Amino acid sequence: MQTIPTERYDPSNKRIRLLYELRWRLFPLLRRMYSVGEKTEISFRAIIRDPRHISIGYGSRIGFGAELWTFGSHPEGGKYSIVCEDFSDIRPYALLHAYGGWIHVGKRSCINSFSIVNGMGGVRFGDNVMMGTGCNFISAEHEFEDRDTPMSFQECHLSPIWVEDDVYIGAGSTLLAGVHVHAGAVIGAGSVVRHDVPSGAVTAGVPAKVIRMR
Ligand SMILES: CC(C)(COP(=O)(O)OP(=O)(O)OC[C@H]1O[C@@H](n2cnc3c(N)ncnc32)[C@H](O)[C@@H]1OP(=O)(O)O)[C@@H](O)C(=O)NCCC(=O)NCCS
Repeated sequence: MQTIPTERYDPSNKRIRLLYELRWRLFPLLRRMYSVGEKTEISFRAIIRDPRHISIGYGSRIGFGAELWTFGSHPEGGKYSIVCEDFSDIRPYALLHAYGGWIHVGKRSCINSFSIVNGMGGVRFGDNVMMGTGCNFISAEHEFEDRDTPMSFQECHLSPIWVEDDVYIGAGSTLLAGVHVHAGAVIGAGSVVRHDVPSGAVTAGVPAKVIRMR
């Protein structure tokens, strides 16, 4: 019978046993060196680049294949460019790329699987933010008017995205640079949000429009 190789804990596998032991032995040390709260679960397969500039709060989870990458220190001189507050939930394969900007995930907020947060212009999620899978948060925009210069050489405009507390974002939505989603708003699945969303509004579509108030 063919056996399927697995990375799960298997005490009879010497290599896996050693890896797990090392992980549990080193973790308290790493926690002291870097800003990682107690009871935080970081998957063995999560990728944390530049951990000196990343802070992960108490009871948070960083899932399998998720990647947190700052590309340098905080542009405004703050200590951490990526902050995941207490009980934040970064699900498998979510990408938090600050690109030299910053990303702030509030308490009990979730960045769902296959979502991409581009923090070049800054992205702030408040507390209790829920989202479906595959959302995009793009805080940068390329200039493209000059037809004599390749667009990749033209300026990049940065503008922060702010998602306030208790917002629900449907799967596959895209929020563009400079958007401010006020507290308690709902964004329908697959929406492209180009303008600010008022508090308590239910919006949907491409471009997203208010369909009703909660
Ligand atoms: C927006 C949403 C919350 C429903 O809100 P609702 O107030 O119950 O809206 P209704 O179903 O009554 O629809 C109202 C109108 O908006 C339209 N609408 C609803 N959701 C839409 C969407 N995602 N995109 C475009 N239009 C949408 C409906 O077709 C309807 O239009 P009509 O009156 O012309 O038929 C829901 O459709 C949605 O998109 N939920 C997100 C689900 C999701 O991604 N979950 C992730 C789980 S982790």
